Amino acid sequence: MAEVAKPKETISWGSSSRARPDVLKRKFPTLADLRLAARRRVPRFAFDYVDGGVGAEEIGAKLNASALDAIEIVPRYGGANAPVSPAVEIFGQRYNAPVGIAPMGLPSLMWPGGEAHFARAAQRGRVPFTLSTSAGMSIEEVAKFAPDVFWFQLYRIPRDDLRINFDMARRAADAGAKVLVLTLDVPSRSKRPRELRNSMVIPFRPTLGMIFSVLTSPGWLASLMQQGQPNFANWPPYAAPGASKNDVSLYVRQSIEGAFSWEEVARLRETWRGPLVVKGIMHPEDAETAVSLGVDGIQVSNHGGRQFEAAPASIDVFPAIRDAVGGKAELLFDGGIRSGMDALRAAALGAKMSFAGRAFMYGLGALGGEGADYTVAFFEDEIKVALRQCGVATLAEAQGLTVRHPGAFAFEQVRRNTG
Ligand SMILES: Cc1cc2nc3c(=O)[nH]c(=O)nc-3n(C[C@H](O)[C@H](O)[C@H](O)COP(=O)(O)O)c2cc1C
Repeated sequence: MAEVAKPKETISWGSSSRARPDVLKRKFPTLADLRLAARRRVPRFAFDYVDGGVGAEEIGAKLNASALDAIEIVPRYGGANAPVSPAVEIFGQRYNAPVGIAPMGLPSLMWPGGEAHFARAAQRGRVPFTLSTSAGMSIEEVAKFAPDVFWFQLYRIPRDDLRINFDMARRAADAGAKVLVLTLDVPSRSKRPRELRNSMVIPFRPTLGMIFSVLTSPGWLASLMQQGQPNFANWPPYAAPGASKNDVSLYVRQSIEGAFSWEEVARLRETWRGPLVVKGIMHPEDAETAVSLGVDGIQVSNHGGRQFEAAPASIDVFPAIRDAVGGKAELLFDGGIRSGMDALRAAALGAKMSFAGRAFMYGLGALGGEGADYTVAFFEDEIKVALRQCGVATLAEAQGLTVRHPGAFAFEQVRRNTG
């Protein structure tokens, strides 16, 4: 793989010593502004891959965002004006803010070299960066850029009785990954209409439309020429010797299959000595099973509305999962986080750490490497203001606030479909 160029410029403010360039704050006051800029700068097929979801109407992603919007927090006044801190301690590490970068396949499609930009930005801003099994840069390369904040995510690869999974977990441990995340919510490939319309399928064959959109995205193209075509960088050791990038893609597609069973989670628990998280949990009973197997963290997630169209918003099932396993495992959350206020909403409900996926991709697409730093700092900055506004100094204190959550899923009142 081509050597990863240094990001053009780094910006961070928040807890970093550099001053925030006000020009970016004025130009991109919200994530929606970054999204629009990304749409203009990035080839259509790459933007749609990130922005899209499952189903004809892609309602899952919209539902996540609207469910968060509906959560109300009652502010308190008259306190001591204590300095606020959005810092979080989880799995023995301290992070500056409660919004990490969720695992995502091929950030380098959104912006070539994206994984390196994310890793560096996360390290500078000291928030978790979870590298995906299907990333465009290898475990070993990324770990160097994010020595203190590197987490690794695994999909199930049943080949040779999980041999590749165990080997990737070993590589992650050797590279210093702080946390291993097992994704459970991809039992099968989902149907994402935008990807099909754009011919984003493997084996990859560029269409005229793709070539046109690349040629009309000059910044992205220049970055591609510098970084080289993205590939599944964790995989070449397992594919046939001399396999082309397309062969490796095909091998990845054939190898990732099904979701981890509880028995497999238990086997990975035995071999991975560090903190283990299961991601994609939506039912309190699944959370309880995971905890009974010795899992350290539950990441409540519906994969950003990219897998199962009829799933509820992930924030709406969060309280029931918290009530089932809170205190027995760390609670993590993702799905629809677009602002510091959203992160405060999740924290007020009991999430120790939230993750955002698309938000970071929009920053990357809008501003290249600079955008990764910008988005990390954007969240930290907004969370500080949100804490101040509601009269608490820390995220732990935020759990004592009065919260109204109209969409909270009442499992005991919902008909259980037992067939
Ligand atoms: C482009 C893209 C690729 C993703 N790839 C993965 C992946 O490889 N592994 C995984 O566990 N989750 C993956 N996810 C899901 C995210 O980790 C996360 O659950 C989701 O993005 C959160 O929703 P949000 O995008 O609204 O923040 C992906 C999400 C996006 C947007």
